[in-house]
Amino acid sequence: MLAVSRGSVSAVEDRGDSPPHFCERPSSAMVQRRVLLTSVVASTCILNKAAGFVVAAAPNRGVQSRGASCAATRSHAAAIPMSMVASMEKSKLLSTVDVDLGDRTYPIYIGEGLLKDGGLLLKHVTSKRALVITNDRVGPLYLDDTVQTLRDGGVEVDTVVLPDGEAHKTMDVLMLILEKALTCRLDRSCTFVALGGGVIGDMVGFAAAIYQRGVKFVQVPTTLMAMVDSAVGGKTAVNHPLGKNMIGAFYQPQAVLIDTATLRTLPDRELASGIAEIIKYGLIKDAAFFEWQEQHMAGLLERDAATVSEAVRRSCENKALVVAADEKEAGLRATLNLGHTFGHAIETGLG
Ligand SMILES: NC(=O)c1ccc[n+]([C@@H]2O[C@H](COP(=O)([O-])OP(=O)(O)OC[C@H]3O[C@@H](n4cnc5c(N)ncnc54)[C@H](O)[C@@H]3O)[C@@H](O)[C@H]2O)c1
Repeated sequence: MLAVSRGSVSAVEDRGDSPPHFCERPSSAMVQRRVLLTSVVASTCILNKAAGFVVAAAPNRGVQSRGASCAATRSHAAAIPMSMVASMEKSKLLSTVDVDLGDRTYPIYIGEGLLKDGGLLLKHVTSKRALVITNDRVGPLYLDDTVQTLRDGGVEVDTVVLPDGEAHKTMDVLMLILEKALTCRLDRSCTFVALGGGVIGDMVGFAAAIYQRGVKFVQVPTTLMAMVDSAVGGKTAVNHPLGKNMIGAFYQPQAVLIDTATLRTLPDRELASGIAEIIKYGLIKDAAFFEWQEQHMAGLLERDAATVSEAVRRSCENKALVVAADEKEAGLRATLNLGHTFGHAIETGLG
């Protein structure tokens, strides 16, 4: 829970882990804003059943960001106003954030139109065969492009379309992935590609971890929540009737490919869920990022491409720092539960 006293704020975990702390003592005005935003975050998390993650102060190592230009792409421009199209056309910058895990270090690519661009996806799907897994909501939007991109690069592709929703994040549904891989006679050299939000990413990651004792996988997150949180860090799982995310593994992807163009089709409610995750990085660790969010919230809500890309980049940097410092949640990473703690408190209070 969040404790506020005498101008300082600290997130206190109730799991016995070392308490995280902000990297500076904020002014009382900032404290008030943070408390207010924390309530918003918690409420949003409950509404969206999003897992709450808060970044605690971490040693400033393990993350490198790089900027590069990205090829211009055509996308789903018809679905958005022309003003936004113009803004997006201007914004083709590609950022790369590395998650530093020694010989398992991997990049997070962030840019517009990366799915159709192909180069980056093919760079990390080095196998002859790939299995792309998505759901019946994301599939109709982005599966064809993803498959075409891979086939254009000479990869033989099979697909699995799972039912959409958290209710289907189960061992039974995960078995459909494994059965498809077996039916297609995929061997250990294949690559799984997770195309979707956090539910798909978590399930595909776990399937990749256990199929033939582990195959490579690439995360292609299509919700803002997955882009800034769940696709980064290698936590994979399915739910069990006795607990959420109770069956899983730590298993890192080869790469995370974030095509911010996919956010144009995301429902507002899911956008809000992702913004809640972004706010939490500012609340807990990155005061400068928090100030930036205050100035750019309108752009985030309007899905301005440059603003969203910047928010995703800075969020991924924060998450990558924590993952690099504590990959398997021995302490620091366990502090990423502020939203949960608040959510549970509010849920309990509201009955
Ligand atoms: N592994 C981790 O570290 C971690 C962290 C946080 C949360 N999680 C998990 O993430 C899951 C929640 O993820 P989520 O919030 O992304 O939910 P989700 O995957 O259910 O996606 C939300 C909805 O948006 C749809 N959708 C996805 N992309 C879309 C797009 N581009 N356009 C239109 N619709 C789209 C989905 O089909 C779904 O209906 C939970 O299961 C949670 O446990 C994992």
